[in-house]
Amino acid sequence: MTPARKIRLGVNVDHVATLRNARGGLLPDPVRAAQMALAAGADGITAHLREDRRHIQDEDMKRLRDLPAPLNFEMAATEQMLDIALKIRPHACCLVPEKRTERTTEGGLDVIGGLDRLKPFVSELSNAGIRVSLFIEPSPEALAAAKEIKAPVVELHTGAWCHALETDETVKAAAEFARLRAAAAETERLGIECHAGHGLDFDTARQIAALPQIVELNIGHFLVAEAVFIGLEASVRRMIQAMSLGRGETSPLSDDGERA
Ligand code: PXP
Repeated sequence: MTPARKIRLGVNVDHVATLRNARGGLLPDPVRAAQMALAAGADGITAHLREDRRHIQDEDMKRLRDLPAPLNFEMAATEQMLDIALKIRPHACCLVPEKRTERTTEGGLDVIGGLDRLKPFVSELSNAGIRVSLFIEPSPEALAAAKEIKAPVVELHTGAWCHALETDETVKAAAEFARLRAAAAETERLGIECHAGHGLDFDTARQIAALPQIVELNIGHFLVAEAVFIGLEASVRRMIQAMSLGRGETSPLSDDGERA
């Protein structure tokens, strides 16, 4: 059995920008949210510069890049985004599918159908020293394709599992979790670093953190939603605690999420 490595938390600040843009001013500032998340113990920041700029703006990405922590730049595989990423030079880029009409990233990348199209993005970003991940469905076919295009990292889409739990589809949820478990194990065989994310909350983050191959979770919507009630720092701290518990580590935090 794989010995569990430390699991990192990347906090996605997109929805702080969604709130700011709803009013059209400067508040709340996603960079301030990123600073608070880091102060609360997050390991990195994630942000998605969408084609329609509905939340994160180009200037936000530049400011996030200047923070003293790894930035994971989520982007569609387009020439425009590639140019921006090569200028900003974030620590990492996660290639995601993007549809203008979707509310959030609905499924994983079509790595199988898009093999030839994605390959140059992976190589150009990698050659620039940027760690590339592919946001994929937890399937053996998608993983084999990711290996073929030499992606060093994949992020497994946890959305279908989380949605099945939310809608009380117990059988489906169990099947989706089994897919995630098998895919995580397969990444190890293929020598690909494994991340996961989408739709996670305290409970699902705790459960998925138990899969020892997963070394990073990227979480946004739930943390921002929870922050409305308990504050962002407390929300991030509780998430770190949930992940530590799932990992079987002694939590660095007390039961209420404060540092012990
Ligand atoms: N990972 C990826 C690749 C995503 O596209 C998103 C959503 O932007 C997330 C993680 C975070 O999902 P959520 O906001 O549901 O936590």
